[in-house]
Amino acid sequence: MVMEAVKALSGEEITELCLKHTLYDWGVQSGLKPLPVTSAKGVHFHTADGRRFIDFNSQLMCVNAGHGDRRIIEAIQRQAEQLPYISPFMAHEPRARLGAKLAELLPGDIDKVFFTLGGAESNENAIKMARAVTGRSKILARYRSYHGSTGTAVQATGDPRRWPNEGSGSGVVHVLDPYHGIQRGWDTVEDSLTSLEETIQLEGPSTIAAFILEPITGTNGILIPPDGYLQGVRAICDRYGILMICDEVMSGFGRTGRWFAVDHWGVVPDLITMAKGLTSSYVPLGAVGMRPQVAGYFDDHVFYGGLTYNSHPLACAAALGAIRAYEEDDMVGNARRMGEVLARHHRRLRERHPCVGAARSIGLFGCLELVRDRQTLEPLAPFNGTSPEMKAVAAALVEAGLHTFVRWNVIMTNPPLCITEAELDEGFEILDGALEVGDRAVRD
Ligand SMILES: Cc1ncc(COP(=O)(O)O)c(C=O)c1O
Repeated sequence: MVMEAVKALSGEEITELCLKHTLYDWGVQSGLKPLPVTSAKGVHFHTADGRRFIDFNSQLMCVNAGHGDRRIIEAIQRQAEQLPYISPFMAHEPRARLGAKLAELLPGDIDKVFFTLGGAESNENAIKMARAVTGRSKILARYRSYHGSTGTAVQATGDPRRWPNEGSGSGVVHVLDPYHGIQRGWDTVEDSLTSLEETIQLEGPSTIAAFILEPITGTNGILIPPDGYLQGVRAICDRYGILMICDEVMSGFGRTGRWFAVDHWGVVPDLITMAKGLTSSYVPLGAVGMRPQVAGYFDDHVFYGGLTYNSHPLACAAALGAIRAYEEDDMVGNARRMGEVLARHHRRLRERHPCVGAARSIGLFGCLELVRDRQTLEPLAPFNGTSPEMKAVAAALVEAGLHTFVRWNVIMTNPPLCITEAELDEGFEILDGALEVGDRAVRD
């Protein structure tokens, strides 16, 4: 048999064809120049033209185990040989094992999951379940939040990604967060909970099915709630029969130094949504975890939902591989330990650079907020905008070989959970250099 060798595309060809025939997320297409990535290992990835980047955002805060982990790759390979797909109406071993494993890891008495394809679909289904179980329609969500880009998930999203997607009659009511931006800072727990309860009273408690929130907010700036806030939300939800949905799509699977962010405060939500770190994103998979009183409702009521790829065998196998990697290498513990190193770097950058107005982190979930005035804390880019200075800092990071997520006035620091102290030093040295570009914009 004669096998024709397929000639590899050059970096320029890859980028050009991707732009010509595929649509990119969240932006105007002209002017884009995506990096042609060819391989990745651990906390680094490489481009077709031989450049090497340190990945300081785990791509989209999702490759928690790091790139190229053999345990995940081989789990997918073995499953592909054995049974790559079977209908969600069947039972199969990776589904059985993963369901049982998640019941062990998830907070409190959550012991049943519904598998989806990602974060948005998980939130869609959690909201659908909450409406079915309570018989109520309204959903509370916070402004500084992102819950996905589809139907109800994007309507629940509070940040400006909702605005162009808003339809009428979404049934979502937004409430303020305890955080009001770098200049106004944080409310007390008491004030924040009082304001939440006032909204519930004004909306009519008996009309509200659920409150969906990221226990630690992700893309809107790594907002770690003050102690007592999540416990207070739990108590308010209980008082009014409102289900608490925690969106742990980004904060789950070890990112914060615990398996789930809610574990820091011992709070058990009624529904919990996950994706990203569930498989370390090697294969798409999301899930909705539910407590027995939610799951029990569906024992004798139809669940009006279904997905061709629910419990996809390759994805379930990948998740088992990822969880094995997290456990074998104690990556959750590493996130806690390296989180202290990361926080030390943050403090140092704050001392050295006048443009660093705030630094927040928990485990390996962190960010820096840049300002142009250390006294007034005026952000280096406005809410929902950018500035030439932020663009220059971002360009300096790419130029020096560091990949991360730069949004508005925020620089993210969310490396894979397998990172070492030396690799953190490598990344922060690059950040140190790039922040000098930001310093030049600071008024004396
Ligand atoms: C907290 C949160 N929820 C939901 C989503 C949506 O997940 P997906 O992009 O997999 O639909 C994201 C994605 O960034 C997220 O950060």
